[in-house]
Amino acid sequence: MPPVSSSRTWTAWPGVSVALRRIEDVADPSSLLEAERRLFDELASPRRRREWCAGRLAAHDALVSAGAGPLAILRDHRGAPELAPPTSGDPEDDAAARARQYRVAISHGRRLAGAVVGPAHHGCFHLGLDIIDPEDVDRLTRLEKRVFSPFEIALGKQRGPREVYRVAWGAREAIAKATRTGMFAFALTHIRLADLTETTAEVELQGGIRVSHMKTPDDEVVVIAAVSEEAFAWANRTARVAPSDCAHARESDAPGATSPGGAGSKEPGG
Ligand SMILES: CC(C)(COP(=O)(O)OP(=O)(O)OC[C@H]1O[C@@H](n2cnc3c(N)ncnc32)[C@H](O)[C@@H]1OP(=O)(O)O)[C@@H](O)C(=O)NCCC(=O)NCCS
Repeated sequence: MPPVSSSRTWTAWPGVSVALRRIEDVADPSSLLEAERRLFDELASPRRRREWCAGRLAAHDALVSAGAGPLAILRDHRGAPELAPPTSGDPEDDAAARARQYRVAISHGRRLAGAVVGPAHHGCFHLGLDIIDPEDVDRLTRLEKRVFSPFEIALGKQRGPREVYRVAWGAREAIAKATRTGMFAFALTHIRLADLTETTAEVELQGGIRVSHMKTPDDEVVVIAAVSEEAFAWANRTARVAPSDCAHARESDAPGATSPGGAGSKEPGG
């Protein structure tokens, strides 16, 4: 993969597109759709505004690449991205139907924001994505006994935590997003790697979860998860806290809140 100059898009699985945007290159929110612009205007910190905007623009790239056309990416009560018709558009175009036919997930690292989009009808998969920076390796290594399984730790010793722990963590985050259950209610306690190849990972669960990973030239790891309807329902039944009980509260979204710390301070799972 050539360096991510400002944006890059590729196909993860048939019909499923992934796009990356370099956060520092996204200074101008004028490409946001009107409804997105209203959400953007509520964000307080400059860092949060840039990453939020970069995530939306990456999602726009992925929507076009997946054939979904222009749609707005709003958010639900938990903070999960939600597709909606653009406020203005072609009256002949049934944008509400298009919004129902696709799914989206977003992540931001220190330098890159990314999004994955795929059709909801294509095997009925729910999608998740996570970006893990090289700076996260030390922290994940310090946390290894608390978060990783004996198999993952043994694999980490064999192949190195840089290769193993980032995918193991990213799989948990991506599956947390795909299932909409969040990290703590389900993924942290139930997701464990069972196998890891150069580009895929298997998790120790009933079937219905696919994980793919790749590395950028700047050594960010991008993990994508696709979760079947059955696995989605199982995860939501198993989740310790009902997702609907989780109020959406990304602190940095609150007016007046300070930046999450800007480049260099993003916590894995934070
Ligand atoms: C939600 C969570 C997985 C996000 O991961 P993160 O490492 O903090 O941040 P990332 O940059 O990788 O991803 C952030 C994006 O995830 C998406 N997201 C947020 N909450 C989400 C959820 N519940 N489900 C799916 N996606 C979600 C958003 O698109 C967000 O970006 P945006 O606000 O700019 O649109 C993680 O913060 C988490 O699980 N926190 C625990 C709180 C919790 O359990 N919340 C859910 C309760 S039901």
